[in-house]
Amino acid sequence: MPFVVAIDGPAGAGKGTITQILAQRLGLVNIDTGATYRCVALATLREGIKLEEQEKIINLTKKIQIQMDEKQQIYLNGENVTRQIREKEVSQIVSQVSSIKEVRYKMVELQRKMAEGKNVIMEGRDIGTYVFPKADVKIYLDATLEERVKRRYKEMQEKGVIITKSEIEENIKIRDYNDTHKEIGALKIAEDAIVVDTTGQSINQVVEKIEKIIEKNITL
Ligand code: DC
Repeated sequence: MPFVVAIDGPAGAGKGTITQILAQRLGLVNIDTGATYRCVALATLREGIKLEEQEKIINLTKKIQIQMDEKQQIYLNGENVTRQIREKEVSQIVSQVSSIKEVRYKMVELQRKMAEGKNVIMEGRDIGTYVFPKADVKIYLDATLEERVKRRYKEMQEKGVIITKSEIEENIKIRDYNDTHKEIGALKIAEDAIVVDTTGQSINQVVEKIEKIIEKNITL
């Protein structure tokens, strides 16, 4: 029987990095659900639709096609947009776009379809609580605000993006607020999730800890 490993948690907790490594090590299909919302945000920008025009965003969501291949490349209407969905303009509006109920219904349907018949590790905010409430393993990755800001700052510096630490902190605080106050699919710890605090831990330490949890609960 195919299984689902759910990795949820706030921005900057290390979900992306950890999930990618675990997928490779354990031979699982990696599904980044945030990327699906980012595609809707990118399409919204390209169509020149304003955030207030929710009906237009909902209609657009019904029309677009989002696909993901086994190499983690994301396609919007057949075009590879893996790089474009990470741009600042997309990051600035994705949280609001992903708060629209109808957008969430559509994306959750798509995410469930992407996982069909496969052994997946799925990363997001509401995987263990909403997308796959019966997931075989549920991990909630967390870290203090200070640590998450530090990580994002380092990441931005490495990419050559000019931004201050306080700007990043503000950005993360806004995202935390939006993520935890969604009408549907709000970020919260599933009752049966295992919380892994990554503060002060190396990537390797976290990977090994979660790998042990997965191996204990699933026959790979
Ligand atoms: O993980 P990320 O930064 O790529 O996510 C992009 C946005 O999508 C972020 O604002 C949170 C939202 N999101 C969500 O609401 N539900 C998910 N399962 C994944 C992401």
